[in-house]
Amino acid sequence: MNDHRPIPDTDYIAEAATLLAHDDAFDSGAVVPPIYQTSLFTFGSYAEMADTFAGKRRQPIYSRGDNPTVMEFEKRVAALEGAEAARGFASGMAAISATVLAFVGAGDRIVAVRNCYGDAYRLFERLLPRLNIKVDYVDGSDPDAVAAALPGAKLLYLESPTSMMFELQDLPHLTRLAREHGIVTTIDNSWATPVFQKPIAHGVDLVLHSASKYLGGHSDTVAGVVAGSADHIRRINEQTYSYLGGKLSPFDAWLLLRGLRTLPLRLPHHMKSGLTIAERLKAHGKVERVNHPVYSNHPGKATLAGYTGLFSFEVTDDVDIPAFVDALTYFRIGVSWGGHESLVVPAKASLEQTPGVNSMARFGVSPRTIRVNIGLEDVEDLWSDIAQAFEKSKK
Ligand SMILES: Cc1ncc(COP(=O)(O)O)c(C=O)c1O
Repeated sequence: MNDHRPIPDTDYIAEAATLLAHDDAFDSGAVVPPIYQTSLFTFGSYAEMADTFAGKRRQPIYSRGDNPTVMEFEKRVAALEGAEAARGFASGMAAISATVLAFVGAGDRIVAVRNCYGDAYRLFERLLPRLNIKVDYVDGSDPDAVAAALPGAKLLYLESPTSMMFELQDLPHLTRLAREHGIVTTIDNSWATPVFQKPIAHGVDLVLHSASKYLGGHSDTVAGVVAGSADHIRRINEQTYSYLGGKLSPFDAWLLLRGLRTLPLRLPHHMKSGLTIAERLKAHGKVERVNHPVYSNHPGKATLAGYTGLFSFEVTDDVDIPAFVDALTYFRIGVSWGGHESLVVPAKASLEQTPGVNSMARFGVSPRTIRVNIGLEDVEDLWSDIAQAFEKSKK
């Protein structure tokens, strides 16, 4: 197996652990921030209100804009990503759509990696053409293909590794190319999290997350966040955030703050169990290929300080995929990932979703691909479950 820690001198896990356990934002001495479950914040006088509206005084006005619990979450994510600022959203898709639409308009073009998350693809294919915004898809692992597509584009949309196929992109190389053309670069970093990849350090402008995944980590919240420079986040605030209205709720922000505290503890477990299962699948006679970044020789691996627990594998023709999925007992059948529980999704079913607007079908993902989310259960229990499911699914 290849080296798991391509950045040997950076201890992201230790750094995140101290950062996330330490809460000094509230004066009361409480170790957990309160949930500010309020829609608005009132002013003591006309002068306070006028100064706040004029930007001379900082105070939350209305929770569609700012809320202290949400701001605490935003501060944490910004610190983890090494960003100046962050903005929380009601979902990963709210973060993605508000970010993209803040930087492109009618007549503009986006260059996106093929095999990006399915609903990001559907946003690009369904909504953006109605606004006269075009999206070209490239094999993000090929810098020449990206370089050829970039001239004239406004935004480069990355996701490393990509959904379902787990292809990598060389972040320093691609962001250098984008910068030469004055193009803003965004990345969906939900898979690696800032504990295992810090894209801003490699030139990415805006880092997007579905916080519903590892950041929350307990499958109890749908949320999103974007992190970047103060100027870029200001632009999102001014152009889309307040008007599209996809704000994060204080209670969800609080759940995320709770989830974040254990992120540096959860990830090494997901990584270890994920690698164990990947290795055993690779050696299994019913598996043709394992799509896990650990097996890649692509330079994009250099920015990953570790691996999480989501990957896919392709089974041989004599495996009855529905029977395999139904035979699993610890792996539940479901779409999301990044939580405590193990999950399975066969590409065969996903390929039937939204016919005509399906990136997996368009970019040739094999129907023999099965994606697994390796949760926090005992790894030997998980492997026994997979082994018996193979036994029960022989054609
Ligand atoms: C890689 C990736 N990005 C973004 C999203 C969208 O996030 P959300 O479901 O929080 O809107 C998902 C959701 O599954 C995802 O897998």
